[in-house]
Order: sequence, then C-alpha cells, then structure tokens
Amino acid sequence: MSRIRNLVRSYFRRKGLPMQPALTFVDVIVRDDFSTIDSRSDIRNLKTPLARDVVLNIPITSANMDTVTDHRMAIALARLGGLGFIHQFFSLEERIAEVRKVKRADNALIEDPVTILKTAMLGEARLLMTKNQVSSLLVVDEVGKLCGILTRRDYRFKEDNTILVNEVMKENLTLGWQGMTREEAFKIIDSRRLEKLPLVTSGFKLCGLMTSKDLLKEKEFPNALRDKKGRLMVGVAIRLNADYADEVSQLLKAGADVILLDTARANSKRVRDATKEIKHRFPKVPLVVGNIDTPEAALMLIKAGADCLKVGIGPGSACKTREATGVGIPQLTAVASCAAVARQYNIPIIADGGIRGGNDLSKALCAGASAVMIGSLFGGTDESPGDVFHDEGRRWKMYRGSASAEHQFDRTKSGSLDTMRAPEGVPRRVPYTGPVQMIVWELLGGLRSSMSYAGARDIQRFQKLGTFVWQSRSGFEEGKPQS
Ligand code: XMP
Repeated sequence: MSRIRNLVRSYFRRKGLPMQPALTFVDVIVRDDFSTIDSRSDIRNLKTPLARDVVLNIPITSANMDTVTDHRMAIALARLGGLGFIHQFFSLEERIAEVRKVKRADNALIEDPVTILKTAMLGEARLLMTKNQVSSLLVVDEVGKLCGILTRRDYRFKEDNTILVNEVMKENLTLGWQGMTREEAFKIIDSRRLEKLPLVTSGFKLCGLMTSKDLLKEKEFPNALRDKKGRLMVGVAIRLNADYADEVSQLLKAGADVILLDTARANSKRVRDATKEIKHRFPKVPLVVGNIDTPEAALMLIKAGADCLKVGIGPGSACKTREATGVGIPQLTAVASCAAVARQYNIPIIADGGIRGGNDLSKALCAGASAVMIGSLFGGTDESPGDVFHDEGRRWKMYRGSASAEHQFDRTKSGSLDTMRAPEGVPRRVPYTGPVQMIVWELLGGLRSSMSYAGARDIQRFQKLGTFVWQSRSGFEEGKPQS
C-alpha cells in the first residue's frame, strides 16, 4: 500500500496537483509552457492506446448507455477515429446484430454477404432483406456457387411473392476473384460502372462482395478506426454475471474488437473474478474493466488481467451516485491517481463522465487518461438513439442515467432486471446538437490548442509534459465568457 501511495504522491507532485483535497476539472487549469509549435493545426497525430493492440485515432469513446450508443453512434465515431461501446441493455442477440451492422458499414470487402437460394421465393427474399437491412441479395445454388444477384430493381413491380428468385434475378455478372486487392476491385468497379462486385473462388463459389458505396466511404474517412480487414472497429459491453464464455465468444465471432466489462463499481471480488475468468478463457481479447476511482482498485484489476481501466464514479451528468451514497472521488483526482499506478504497467485509462467540452477533455488526458468516454454531450446528436422533440421553442433529445428509475423500470418490463433499486441516476433532456461530427470537431479543436500551449505534439508527450495549476472558484469564473 505504501508503494501505491508513494507512486501517487510523486506523480501528483510532478503534475502540480495537491494530494488533498480531491479535485475535479474546474479546480485546475493546464499550465501553459514554452512551445515550439506554431499553430494547433500542426498537431495532426492524436493517436492513443486503448487496450492491447487497439490504438484509437482520436481519444474519444462513446458511453455504453441506451440513449447514447447503438450501431449508428458506433459507426459515426469509428469513422472519425474513435470507438463506440454498444450498450449492455440490449439482449445478446441484439448486441450481436448491432456489432454486425458496424462491421458491415463502410466495409468494402464483405466476407459473408447475405445470400439466398435460387429456388427460394420472392417473399422470403423480401423478408431477408428487411431483416438484414440490405438492398440486394446474392443468389447461390445448393453448393454455394454464385448464380446471380437480386436487387430491388428486379422485383419492385412484382406483387406475387411466390415467384422464384431465379426467375427474376440478374445473371451474367462481372466477377472479381478471391484475394483481389481493393485497388484492383476499384478499377473494375470504376471502369464497368458497377455498384457491386461479387468475388468467387476458382470453382465459382461465392467468397465475398465489394461495393462501390463502401469503397468510396473508405476513401471519404481516411482517419477512420479500422481493423486489420479494413472494417470499422466497435466495442461492446457485457454485464456482470453474464455467461462470459458464451457471450464473449459470440460477440467476438460477430466481430467485436473490444469487450467492456461494465459495472457501477468494479472494486470488488466479483469483478476481479470475472476479469480473471474472461482473461483466462480469452487471453488475447482487449478487455476494458470499470468503473473505479482509486489506485488500489486500479492495481487489483490490472493484476486480474484488465487491459484498460474505466475511471469515474459519479462525475457523469446524469449521475446521482454521489448524492445517493456519498461515495465517489472527484474525477480529476480519480483519473490522476489511477493513472499514477496504471502507467507503471502500460495500462491505458478511460476517463468516464463529466466531459462538457474541450477543456475537460484536455484536463483528463493531461491527468493521465488515454481517452475519455462521453455520454450527455453525444446524447443530443443525430446518431444517438431516440427522437428529437420540441419544447420552449427548442429541439431536445432524452438522455438518462443507466441507474435512473425510468431506465430500471424499462428493464424490469423487458425482464433484464428483477427488482428496482434506489435510483443512482436521473433522466434529463439535452439540447439537440446535429451530427456528432460537429461535437467531436469542437472537442478536438480545444484539445489541439491545449496541447500546443503545453508544447506537446502528441498525446503521449502531453501526458508526460503537461502539468496543472490549481485554481480558485473565482479564477474558474473569470475564465468563462460573460453574458
Ligand atoms: P456524461 O457526463 O458524459 O457521463 O454524461 C457519462 C457516464 O455517466 C455514467 N453513468 C451513470 N453514473 N448513475 C451513475 O452514477 C447512472 O445512472 C449513470 N448512467 C451513466 C457512465 O459511466 C457514463 O459513461
């Protein structure tokens, strides 16, 4: 224990932070330092490690909350270089479907395109397309040989659902071959003006599909976070007490890149045992575990096998945990004290909750986090689940704490929660803010400026060189624009 205390003490001294009292973002400012960086636009590299070999292109993740992250948010954020965590309140089947949607989006090479037998009926084809949200199906025979393609154009005026697929499908397709590069595919698609290029083996068995739309998307988002196969990356949350062996293996099979074991308070034997079990069964899976707020908990989970720690108990904008329980360390101190330990083991930290703008993002990274997790700021975007509503002449979306009474009530109805507990979260409306891209752009603008003031060209140097000055409440007020 004294080793942990010494580590934290020396880290805090170096950062310019007091050990007591515990501080949060508004209590400090990032100290500006001599800089050789001429402009914030010179800071182009915002890469940051997340877990094992997963490196984000921007230090931002989206909260695994039902009003924040489903496949739409995950796709949008991965296109920008960050990572979305699909929430754990979906059933396992729903999460698998959500993960698949992310992996299919913008993926120029679809390895397992949706297929239908040539002897199937049009009604079946229609159902299959709706279920998989695709606009065409590749048609195969009983041994998997490609026979044709069925697109909306082929059947839109056919009202008889009993017509066989092979009566209306398009035959004589231009084909690509197994193992062809994206550039080769792009050339054929471009020169023949194709929308889709099916790939076949030497025996004409279907083995993939390239689409022009997705090839263009790959080019449109050069900073996107992609896996080795070029697919967008996605994280997915699992609950404590899940059947880890089954759940994790199914999610990985669907293509999940990072698993998040998420619970309100991870400083417990149950979470330690779960972490050990998951890492024992899946040693290579990038595993994020949270939430914690002390260096002792950080060390315990690192020793259990966590590859990344999520830090934050009660700083979130819809949280009532501290009010209800009196527990939860102010976020800047929590992040810095966990980072003091985690950096010794090269384990990244996600600062989760309380990020309201670029200044909080900068302070979280300067304190030692590798990335932040964002809830309410993303809750009002086009990509978050839920509808926009109007009130008082403004547009809003609903955002709610995962432990709010309203959320718990919905879970008891769906059967994923047995009994209601005293709420530790609240529902609130958040202003509608348009595309998430705009919020991310603003956050990163603030971060780049902050890094240039601190003389750091990349996040690793920012974490190393950045220090804080403690500020008074009136100092904080002074820094706010006057209305
Ligand atoms: P922000 O500030 O970005 O925070 O809205 C998002 C984070 O808040 C946490 N969260 C909760 N914490 N009770 C809590 O104490 C809740 O009901 C609750 N719901 C979400 C969570 O860590 C999320 O990422």
